[in-house]
Amino acid sequence: MNVDTLREAALVISNSEYLIALTGAGISKESNIPTFRGEDGLWRTYDVMELATPSAFVRNPTLVWEWYEWRQGLISKCDPNPAHNTLVRWEERGLLKTLITQNVDGLHRRAGSTKVLEVHGDLWALKCSFCDYQGRLNKPASGIPACPLCGKHLRPDVVWFGESLDRAIMSQVYTELEKADACIVIGTSALVQPSASFPLIVKQRGGPIIEVNIEKTMLTSAVDFHLSGKAGEILPALDELLT
Ligand code: APR
Repeated sequence: MNVDTLREAALVISNSEYLIALTGAGISKESNIPTFRGEDGLWRTYDVMELATPSAFVRNPTLVWEWYEWRQGLISKCDPNPAHNTLVRWEERGLLKTLITQNVDGLHRRAGSTKVLEVHGDLWALKCSFCDYQGRLNKPASGIPACPLCGKHLRPDVVWFGESLDRAIMSQVYTELEKADACIVIGTSALVQPSASFPLIVKQRGGPIIEVNIEKTMLTSAVDFHLSGKAGEILPALDELLT
């Protein structure tokens, strides 16, 4: 990791008035949660069209729930890592204003982050596939949960492929992006819209982008600082250099 680039990025963070963060699956990799498109990525092993679309749920809700039950089981055994914890510290210091995450694993909140916008939902949240019921699991599901109001199948309250993002959350996201003067992007391949474009909105307003990733991404050509390495090592190193 180039120390001069790290120092310059730390200076940007220290001098920012309204820093926001965008995170992806890579920030939870060191917590032993697989990414989607990496070497052991979920979409390399599992068929997304059979597991993460509304039509897959209609076709085979048992299979979809078996998969989410497995993911909930895995995540319930994992803990936040130093990257998650550093973002909590920055929020507490008033340095990090908002954390936008594509992750549904809930590790940012478990670490203690409070200003979190989960644009793809939350793996532990439930909603009815028929009525307005919303609920929450506190342990991995077992079988297909039924709606206590209408008896229909409950589904994980996450955004599946082909579905639009929650309007209320998205309006908060754009409000925050309009205020931001710097953006740090951690552990995302920047392949999925609209999240992949969020940092570019900050850039258009003259705000620098800092990218933390073990490899180059679709976004790298547009960033001001590419910090190559693991988030769990780079974030604490950045924190050390903050003034
Ligand atoms: N530290 C930093 N970055 C890492 C690490 C690490 N330890 N390990 C992996 N990465 C990087 C990878 O190089 C890759 O660029 O994290 C990124 C993970 O990319 P994806 O697997 O594509 O995950 P993400 O970008 O979050 O996917 C976006 O796609 O499948 C949908 O809804 C799902 O929210 C998800 C969205």
